[in-house]
Amino acid sequence: MFGLKTKPAASATGTAGDAPLPHHQLGHFPRLLSEADHPTKWEFPGYLDNPNCQWLSALKELYANPITFPASLSPEAGLMLHGLIRNLQPRMIIEVGSFCSVSSHWIASALLENGYEPKGPRPTGAHLQCFDDFGPVHKGPWRDVEMLTGRKEFVTERLTKAGLIDFVTLHPGDSSTRLTEMRDSLARDGGVDFAFIDGDHTLPGVKADFNAVEPVLNTGGFVLLHDTFPDQCSHDGPRQLLDTVHEFAQGRYEVIDLYLSPLNYGLGLMRRVR
Ligand SMILES: C[S@@+](CC[C@H](N)C(=O)[O-])C[C@H]1O[C@@H](n2cnc3c(N)ncnc32)[C@H](O)[C@@H]1O
Repeated sequence: MFGLKTKPAASATGTAGDAPLPHHQLGHFPRLLSEADHPTKWEFPGYLDNPNCQWLSALKELYANPITFPASLSPEAGLMLHGLIRNLQPRMIIEVGSFCSVSSHWIASALLENGYEPKGPRPTGAHLQCFDDFGPVHKGPWRDVEMLTGRKEFVTERLTKAGLIDFVTLHPGDSSTRLTEMRDSLARDGGVDFAFIDGDHTLPGVKADFNAVEPVLNTGGFVLLHDTFPDQCSHDGPRQLLDTVHEFAQGRYEVIDLYLSPLNYGLGLMRRVR
């Protein structure tokens, strides 16, 4: 269940002798077998094609926009995130890195389906706070389109069309700066139950986001990092954070790696246990 380790390391709760195997030594680790198998767009699963469901219809339309590939969560990864929110029942959720709002859709739709009151107080309400610079999106690997302006307006329009905007507050700007500014109000509202961190993937960037939210993360709450297998996703910050969390947050976190398909960029799930 554990992925690549950059060095032999203790697990978040164990000793060096417990270090998990690197993922290339694991008997089961989903990965592409050849470049030819690399998808070029996200396929929206037919079983989710439900014209009677407003948010699924809007999400299907969003996935059809080539801007969402490959930086947005795949439908399969989104389903995992949606299922986590449905089951873990967090009330205050932080999303760092909303991009074009695919992951925001998967989270906010779970709040809707859980029957919560949009932005209401606990115990009946739930709130998704989204942090992103909403800056220009340029062409890149596997993405031949760009969005140089208007991303925040695009995201607002998409979430409105999905019927989910009432659950969401957008916070434009540098994520760790904005999060730190908001910490007192998050604490007053009962703290954070779930933080999805998918923004700046450098180690300083992901650590700044983690450190910004960690002081107001409730015990029993979760942090979910995206892009945790560097040799699959080409980012190494989230992996390094997972591998070193025991050094700066001794014993406070349990950590587990989750696999993703068809591209196993990886998710790392941390639960705050004290
Ligand atoms: C990989 S994308 C997120 C994908 C999104 N979670 C999804 O699944 O649809 C990363 C996003 O983080 C944003 N970002 C990167 N560094 C940031 C920072 N320091 N502050 C705010 N946003 C940042 C980028 O502009 C981009 O929108």
